[in-house]
Amino acid sequence: MRNLRPGCRIVVLSGAGVSKESGLATFRENNGLWEEHDVYEVATPEAWNRDPEVVQRFYNARRKQLLEVFPNDAHKYLAKLEEVFEVVVVTQNVDDLHERGGSSNVVHLHGELRKSRSTLDESLVYDVDGWEVTMEERCEKGGVLRPHVVWFGEMVPMIEAAASIVRSADLLLVVGTSLSVYPAAGLLHEASSDVPVILIDPGELNTSGLRNVHHIREKATVGVKNLVLKMLEYQKDG
Ligand code: APR
Repeated sequence: MRNLRPGCRIVVLSGAGVSKESGLATFRENNGLWEEHDVYEVATPEAWNRDPEVVQRFYNARRKQLLEVFPNDAHKYLAKLEEVFEVVVVTQNVDDLHERGGSSNVVHLHGELRKSRSTLDESLVYDVDGWEVTMEERCEKGGVLRPHVVWFGEMVPMIEAAASIVRSADLLLVVGTSLSVYPAAGLLHEASSDVPVILIDPGELNTSGLRNVHHIREKATVGVKNLVLKMLEYQKDG
C-alpha cells in the first residue's frame, strides 16, 4: 500500500455487506433477503409477468426502508479516499448509500432502487419520489413503471464498463460481497495479477485462483475505516 501514489486509481467492488451496518439486510446470510423471500416470486422477469404487484410491493418495501437508514462509516471512509486517490465504486447494491456517504463515482451493476423504468422503453428511467411506485403510474409512452433493477436472468448492462474499470485499477478493494453471483463476481479476475486485492469481510471467502490477495476479517465499518486511515497516513508520511 505504501507505493500507492496520490492519484492512483482505487476500484471498490462492494456488496450487501457494506450496507449491513446501516440496517439493510444482506441476501445469503441468516435472515437474509433470500431467506425471507423467494427470489422467483420477487426478482425475476417471470415473477413480474406473473404478478407485477407482488414484485412492486417487494421493491416498495425495500425503498421505504432505504429512506429510513443512513450511510455508515464504511461508505464514508471509502468516500474519504477521494481526497488523495481516484476512486471508482462498482457496487452490486441497489441502495444509494455510497452516494449519500460521499462517493462521487459509483457504478450500479444491478440497478438503483430509487429509480423506476418504463416497461415499454427501457431508456426511460425516472427518479422515484418517495418510496412507492404504483401500478397506476405510467411513463410518457403509457407504459407501466417497473423497478430499475437487474433481476435474475436479465443482462447486466454495466458489466463491460465495470470490467474495463477493474482492469485499470491500481488497487482493488472488495467489501461485503459473498462473490457468489456472476457476472459481478467474475470482475475480481479482471484485475492485473500484480494489482493488490484487499477483501474486507468478516465471513469466509473463496479466494482460490486469486494472487496478491489479503483478506481483512472485519466488518466493513471497522475494516474500511482502519485501512483508509492507514492509507491516508502513508500519503501524509510521503
Ligand atoms: N461488513 C462487511 N461484510 C459483511 C458484513 C459486514 N458487517 N456482514 C456480512 N458481510 C458479508 C457476508 O460475509 C457476505 O460475504 O457480506 C456478504 C453478503 O453476501 P450476499 O448476501 O451474497 O450479498 P452480495 O454478495 O452483495 O450478493 C450479490 O446477489 O442476490 C443478488 O442482486 C443481488 O447484488 C446481490 C448479489
